[in-house]
Amino acid sequence: MITQATDQRMVTEVVLPGVVAPEGLQIRQRPAAHPRAGQALLAMEATGVSFAEQQMRRGRYYDQPPFPFVPGYDLVGRVEAVGADVDPGLVGRRFAALTKTGGWASHVVVDAADLVEVPDAVSSADAETLVVNGITAWQMLHRVARIRAGQTVLVMGANGGVGSTLVQLARSAGVRVIGTASPRHHDTLRHLGATPVDYRDPDLWAHLRELAPDGVDAVFDHVGGEGIVDSFRMLAPGGTLVSYGTASTRDDAGSSRVPVLKLVARLFLWNLLPNSRRAHFFNIWAGRRRPEAFRAKLRADLGQVFALLGDGVVKAQVADRIPLSRAVEAMRLAESGTVTGKVVLVPDPASAPCS
Ligand SMILES: NC(=O)c1ccc[n+]([C@@H]2O[C@H](COP(=O)([O-])OP(=O)(O)OC[C@H]3O[C@@H](n4cnc5c(N)ncnc54)[C@H](OP(=O)(O)O)[C@@H]3O)[C@@H](O)[C@H]2O)c1
Repeated sequence: MITQATDQRMVTEVVLPGVVAPEGLQIRQRPAAHPRAGQALLAMEATGVSFAEQQMRRGRYYDQPPFPFVPGYDLVGRVEAVGADVDPGLVGRRFAALTKTGGWASHVVVDAADLVEVPDAVSSADAETLVVNGITAWQMLHRVARIRAGQTVLVMGANGGVGSTLVQLARSAGVRVIGTASPRHHDTLRHLGATPVDYRDPDLWAHLRELAPDGVDAVFDHVGGEGIVDSFRMLAPGGTLVSYGTASTRDDAGSSRVPVLKLVARLFLWNLLPNSRRAHFFNIWAGRRRPEAFRAKLRADLGQVFALLGDGVVKAQVADRIPLSRAVEAMRLAESGTVTGKVVLVPDPASAPCS
C-alpha cells in the first residue's frame, strides 16, 4: 500500500558521472520511485555540499559507490508518500535524513526508520547545516572526547561545516576553543567564541603552545597526513585526539583507502604506548551493523543539536543557498576556500519552496 499517489512525478537529480571537474556534474530527470515497505518519499527542501562530495568527485572518498551515482550526504524534506508498514501520519511532516549519497535530488526515497523530525521553529536550510555536521560534532565532543566545562580544545578547520559546529557546541558546553583557519575567517571565529590561529603559519605549533602551554584536552583533526603527529603532541596528559578525516590527501593520486588505513593503524599504535593520551578515528557510520542502536543514538544526538539550534544557542552557518540545478556553482563555492559553514542546495523555483 502507498499513501498518496506519486504517479507521473518527475524527479530532478544531480549525477556524478565519474572523476570530473564541478562542471562535469549532470542534471537528470526521471520518474519518481514509489516508496516500498518501510520507506518514505521525501520532497527535498534543503540538501548541501559536504567535504565528502569534494572527495567523491575526485574518486577519493573512502567507500563511495561506483560511478555514476547521485551524491548528497544528507537532506531535509517533507514526506509526500509512505510505503506499507509506515505510519501514514508521517505524510506532510518535515524530517532530516543522513544518506551518504542520493540527497542531491528533488525527491528522495529513504528508510522511514532513518528519519529524524525537524522542530517547527527551525528552517529547513538551517537544519540542513547541522545534519551530518551536527551528528559528527556532537558525537566526537560528547561520546568520544567526553569534554567537560573548563577544558580547552583545538579544532582544525574551524570555519568549515563540521569545524564551525564543533566550535559552537564546545562553547555551549563551557569549553575554551582554539580554532585553526585562514585569516579571512578569523573575525567569524572570534564571533563564534574561538581564538583563531592561521593554519598556514609556519610557526603554527609554537603559537598554539603559547596559547595552551600545558597542552589541550582534545584535538579534532580532519587533516590527517604527517601533521597528525603534531596534533597528538599537542595533547595534555589525559587528552584525546579525535581524528576524523584526511583532507590533506584530497588531491593526491592513488588509492583513497590507503591514507585512512595508515592513519587508523598509526592511532592504534599510539594507544598501545604508555603515554596517558588516547587517539581515536571517528567514523559516523560505525555501529551501523546494529541498526536499532545506531538509529537511536543518531536520533538522540541530532535531537540535542536541533534543540540547541531551536533555542538559538547554536546558529546555523549557511554559507549560501543555491538551487539544485546550479549544483556546479555550489560545488565551486564550497571548494573556493572562502566560505564559513555550509553551502546549502534548495529546490529549483518551480518545485517545492524552501521554508
Ligand atoms: N569521519 C566522519 O565520520 C566524518 C563525518 C563528517 C565529516 N568528516 C570530515 O570532516 C571534514 C570536514 O568536512 P566538512 O563537510 O565540514 O568540510 P567543509 O565544510 O568543506 O570544510 C573543510 C574545512 O577543511 C579545511 N581544509 C580544506 N582542505 C584542507 C587541507 N588540505 N588541509 C587543511 N585544511 C583543509 C577548509 O579550510 P578552507 O576553508 O581554508 O579551505 C575548511 O575549514 C572532512 O575531512 C570530512 O571528510 C568526517
